[in-house]
Amino acid sequence: MPLILLFGATGLVGSHLILALRDQYPKLPVTVYVRNTSIDNYLTTTAGVARVVHGDFSEHAKITALVEEHDIVINVGSSGDDSVTEAIMEGLKKRPAKSKPVLIHMSGTGNFLETRFDDGVHHSESKVWSDDSIEDMKAINAEMYQGGPAALVLTLNKTHPDIATYVVFPSAIFGESAGPIRSLGVIQQLMYQKAKELGFVPYVGDGTAIVNLIHVDAVTSFVLKILDLSQEPSAPQGSQYERTFFIGGPDIAWKEVSQAFAKAFHAKGIIASPDTRSVSLAEAGEPGIQGIMSREMLFVGPRAQRLGYKYTQPDLPEYVRNGGDVASL
Ligand SMILES: NC(=O)c1ccc[n+]([C@@H]2O[C@H](COP(=O)([O-])OP(=O)(O)OC[C@H]3O[C@@H](n4cnc5c(N)ncnc54)[C@H](OP(=O)(O)O)[C@@H]3O)[C@@H](O)[C@H]2O)c1
Ligand SMILES: *[C@@H]1O[C@H](CO)[C@@H](O)[C@H](O)[C@H]1NC(C)=O
Ligand SMILES: *[C@@H]1O[C@H](CO)[C@@H](O)[C@H](O)[C@H]1NC(C)=O
Repeated sequence: MPLILLFGATGLVGSHLILALRDQYPKLPVTVYVRNTSIDNYLTTTAGVARVVHGDFSEHAKITALVEEHDIVINVGSSGDDSVTEAIMEGLKKRPAKSKPVLIHMSGTGNFLETRFDDGVHHSESKVWSDDSIEDMKAINAEMYQGGPAALVLTLNKTHPDIATYVVFPSAIFGESAGPIRSLGVIQQLMYQKAKELGFVPYVGDGTAIVNLIHVDAVTSFVLKILDLSQEPSAPQGSQYERTFFIGGPDIAWKEVSQAFAKAFHAKGIIASPDTRSVSLAEAGEPGIQGIMSREMLFVGPRAQRLGYKYTQPDLPEYVRNGGDVASL
């Protein structure tokens, strides 16, 4: 029975993943690495976790030592910090080669925001990235939003071909965490902050720039699919660049996203009017945030689709209309 180590168990994705693991793989012993010391009872009793280890992402030696004890590492906690991925990789390298170590790393399609246009407008020339293009996968680099750790994972094969790496790139995740700790997706948090700050929900330019959002349930079920794939006799399948997967929901224009949030915030009394407004890049916020509202996120995921990925969850406007949690902490 392989031992699984999970990073991010209290987050939006991880909180659902531990419950899905409990339900679908009740016999698989799961260790979680969490910094919160007041929810051990929930984790072991309700979520059925075998072992809880307390620690922070900054404790690299502790992470390395813990990884060394496990066969499969699932990292849905840290996709932007090179040092955490380096600590995980150090631990995997210390595993005996015959043990077939597996790393499932979650990154994001935020890496693939269009670099040429930042005007909030849809451009037919915008690059459409594909998880089925080895060239695109080889282009992943540390300059990208969360590209550092993903690029590190993809180089592991050079020195340690025995370590099977899988990288999942979800688009912007929305939903609500499961369990005792509340966590919402980045876009939910961003829209709420902007509404509070500006008194309305903004979009950049004419708001036709395409973004992509994915419900958290679609992410968790796909991570389990990857877990299955990693345990097949044929694993690891192909090169590291053939174990990368883009998953998302329907493409949607920013203006439509903003309108959905504006209606919901207005209904909750957070803003005075449900009307959205176009803003300048400067008003949209800091560089990271500007990027997501002003630059297109265009991708296709044929490789994920061949594995059976199909988006069946509500899209963002539907989620909001159905009363999904939108107001941040
Ligand atoms: N949401 C998205 O749209 C999206 C898309 C693609 C990729 N990602 C990335 O994927 C990862 C997980 O996403 P998410 O939406 O599930 O994020 P989240 O809800 O913010 O969860 C982050 C998890 O990491 C833990 N964590 C954060 N800092 C830590 C530290 N210093 N030490 C120990 N644990 C720490 C959190 O624990 P606490 O409960 O203690 O804070 C939580 O369990 C993030 O790195 C995110 O950037 C997110
Ligand atoms: C730890 O979890 C408890 C229980 O849900 C929560 O109230 C508290 O804010 C969390 N602590 C931290 C530091 O996140
Ligand atoms: C490592 O890369 C080589 C060449 O691309 C490939 O044949 C091999 O299957 C890969 N192994 C793993 C475990 O990724």
